[in-house]
Formats: sequence, structure tokens, C-alpha cells
Amino acid sequence: MSIYLDYNSTALVRPQVQAIMAEVLAEGGNPNAVHALGRRARSRIETARAQVAALVGADPTAVVFSSGGTEANAQGIASAIAAGCERLIVSATEHPCVAEAAMASGIPVEVLPVDGNGVVDLDWLAGALQRPGRAAVAIHHANNESGVIQPIAEAAALVRAAGGWLHVDAIQSAGKIAVDMRALDADTLTVGAQAGRGAGIRRAGRARGADPGAHPARRRAGAGPARGHREHGGHRRVRRRGGDRGWRA
Ligand SMILES: Cc1ncc(COP(=O)(O)O)c(C=O)c1O
Repeated sequence: MSIYLDYNSTALVRPQVQAIMAEVLAEGGNPNAVHALGRRARSRIETARAQVAALVGADPTAVVFSSGGTEANAQGIASAIAAGCERLIVSATEHPCVAEAAMASGIPVEVLPVDGNGVVDLDWLAGALQRPGRAAVAIHHANNESGVIQPIAEAAALVRAAGGWLHVDAIQSAGKIAVDMRALDADTLTVGAQAGRGAGIRRAGRARGADPGAHPARRRAGAGPARGHREHGGHRRVRRRGGDRGWRA
């Protein structure tokens, strides 16, 4: 008998989600089409969007589906830069995809240290935020290896007071513990279900413009019900504020 212990890396798909995905695969349909099959596919996506939004207390129009956590985090950082941030502060224990996106961004990157328990140093953050230049801060909610939960609301208060931007990678927390985007006060939030499907969420504003084309309804449909169950796939971002043209608006 084998026992699978790597759920934080990728999780098994629950039968409930498998069933929904199988249904949508069998249905087919272009969700942008006006015929009945297309409208059915669109309805599947919108149901999933609402389920994702409900998971983190966001408006469904704030959800942007993505291919996975890496893409969602990269776009969260890109959004901050597009919004005028001139420097990045990235916690020392972020997932490598966040650190790599930051290094590739072309703007200065500082590393937010953690203490012996793996918790971000808020005093250091407060000091760093006083330095010149609008800062975007990236802190993950829960660590994928240690499980350490970061004091996001406290960090958000510091970021907010300094007029900065907060991106939170909640891939390892959403579906396991309560994640409330408003309470966390994040500008952008990434959530996922660890099986390669993706989505993003904004806290306010329509995000549909970021999601053009023929949507893969079978993947989106599976992402919604998977949200509440870590055994399923899906990633999404949530944005606190912004326009109606996707992450970078
Ligand atoms: C905290 C965290 N962020 C980002 C990622 C990257 O997600 P993906 O593999 O879907 O690109 C992972 C993957 O496990 C993760 O645990």
C-alpha cells in the first residue's frame, strides 16, 4: 500500500470534481458562442467564477483565471508595476516563482527577512516602506514547505499606510484555512488548487477583459468546486482595486 504525502505540491482530484470535469468535457461548446451549447459552457465558467470568488470573499467580476500559480503571481507583480510601483519587497521565503518574477521585473528588489520561526520581520518592513519610491510587497499567506502562516493583515496595514501595493500568494492557504481578501487587505491575491488549472480574482472591478478568447470551460468548471477542497486543481488571483482590463489595468 502506498500513502501519498505530497498534497502541498499537487493534490489528487476528488471524484466530485472529476465528475464535473467529465460532464463539461462531454458537453463541449465555445463559451463565447450564443448558441445553447455555448451558453451552457459560459454558465459553467460563471458558476466556477462565483465559487472561486466566494472562497475568498471577493466579487466574481474580480476573478481572473490563469494557467497556474506561477502565472498568477507573475501577473500580480506586473499589476503592481503597471500601477506605478517602483520597487519590490519580496519575503525571503516566497515560492521561487515569485522571487523569479521579481528578479525579472527590471525594478529594484529587496528581500524581506524572516525570523527564526519563518515569520516576516514587520519592523524591517516598516523601515523599508519609509524609503523613497512606491513599493510593492509580496508575502505568501502560508508557506508550502513549513506551513508557517504570515501576519498578512498587519503587513497590509503597514503597506497601506505607506501607499504601497500588497500581493499575497494564498495558494497554500485557500481551501485549508479561512482566506478573506478584505480582511487580508491585499491588492492582488493568488489562490490555487494545485493541479495546474488556474484563475485570478480582483477585489473590485471587472476582470473579464483579462480572460478573452474561447475559455477552456472544462478546466474552469473544475476549478470552482475544487476551491473548497485542496484535493483539486485550480489557481486564481484576486485584485483589490483596478480597472476592467485584467491584472494590468
Ligand atoms: C505557495 C506557492 N506559490 C506558487 C506555486 C506555483 O504554482 P504552480 O505550480 O501552479 O505554477 C506553488 C506550487 O506549489 C506554491 O506552493
